[in-house]
Amino acid sequence: MMNKEAVDARGSAPAPGYKVPASLSPFIKENSVVARSPGRINLIGEHTDYNNGFVLPAAIDKAAYIVITPRHDKELHLRSIDLQETYSTTADKLEKSPDMSWPNYILGVIEQFALAGIAINGFDAALTGDIPIGAGLSSSAAVECAVALAINELYACGFDKFTLVKLSQKAENDFVGVQCGIMDQFASMFGKHNHVIRLDCRSLDFDYVPFNMEGIKILLLDTNVKHSLGSSEYNVRRKQCETGVAWIQRHVPSVKSLRDATPEMLDKYVLPDDMLIYQRCKYVVEENNRLLAACKHLEQGNIPAFGARMFETHHGLSKLYEVSCPELDFLVTHVQDNPAVLGARMMGGGFGGCTINLVKEEAIDELIAETSIAYKKAMNKVLRAHVAKIENGSCILR
Ligand code: GLA
Repeated sequence: MMNKEAVDARGSAPAPGYKVPASLSPFIKENSVVARSPGRINLIGEHTDYNNGFVLPAAIDKAAYIVITPRHDKELHLRSIDLQETYSTTADKLEKSPDMSWPNYILGVIEQFALAGIAINGFDAALTGDIPIGAGLSSSAAVECAVALAINELYACGFDKFTLVKLSQKAENDFVGVQCGIMDQFASMFGKHNHVIRLDCRSLDFDYVPFNMEGIKILLLDTNVKHSLGSSEYNVRRKQCETGVAWIQRHVPSVKSLRDATPEMLDKYVLPDDMLIYQRCKYVVEENNRLLAACKHLEQGNIPAFGARMFETHHGLSKLYEVSCPELDFLVTHVQDNPAVLGARMMGGGFGGCTINLVKEEAIDELIAETSIAYKKAMNKVLRAHVAKIENGSCILR
């Protein structure tokens, strides 16, 4: 059943703690709109969204904020406060910025509104946020969703949140050029305080599952490695999955995606042709089943069993799907035998970014201190750590 909760175009109700960041104040005028859209974590279900499978993400307490102020001409003056960069163009000349990536997340969304028939005029926009960039926390999806919500408000388009999610994803696919699935934008837009979202990426049916792991916190350990390979390899993985589906379809036409495939089909129709494609597909089919098992564990409050599934996911992502990197593998292996860590795995697209860890609250400080030293010694890199809180999704702040 479709979850009918809050699909209203203004987003989640802003919780009392969500304030307009002080750095945006100089850019706010009488007729400005300000939107907030968070980053996301994903407990389990990685690289399953574009295979029509399931995911279990949540929005977090780090977000992107945008202020948009209409102009009387067609000019677009965009500013990243944090990067201290500006970019100008006009609303009828939406071309990809050649040297800076952040304007593309704004321009891509404007283009989607234009394609939907909304006449976008000029505006001034200023962007800020506290989501670490390149950490696999979907700062780009957060920017897209914030822009989509703000434009929707400014132009009174009346699009609901589903439409805004799809429009933001399309901006990433068509303008930015990453063939991402729907998870990041969905989690950013639909997040709910202290709940994870169990999303069926085929039907877009979803439930909010309370995240109440007594005494356990979500700790993100950031490799500090940027996923530069991320987008090209991401698109390659997507193609490999499609190839596997095409091979199965020759024998079983009802299989439309890896969501419909079974391990037996892979053994019969993919393995004999290509080992690499087989491994990619095997990971995805296993991950879908793993997520369903993990959701049962969550409902039963069996956190150790849930955590064990997370370690299995990491193993699959590292060995079969091959989207990990030495730094991520190190961080997961390092905590694996620590009794205070119930589950850990790499999170997001891969090739850098964070691991997500379920850690007993009282052990967090020591774990961060001790892992930082070990990480520095093994990888000669500085570890960053964040304890993520689960928060509401995108909203209009003013
Ligand atoms: C990136 C993409 C998502 C999803 C994850 C992997 O974050 O944007 O759509 O595919 O990778 O699960």
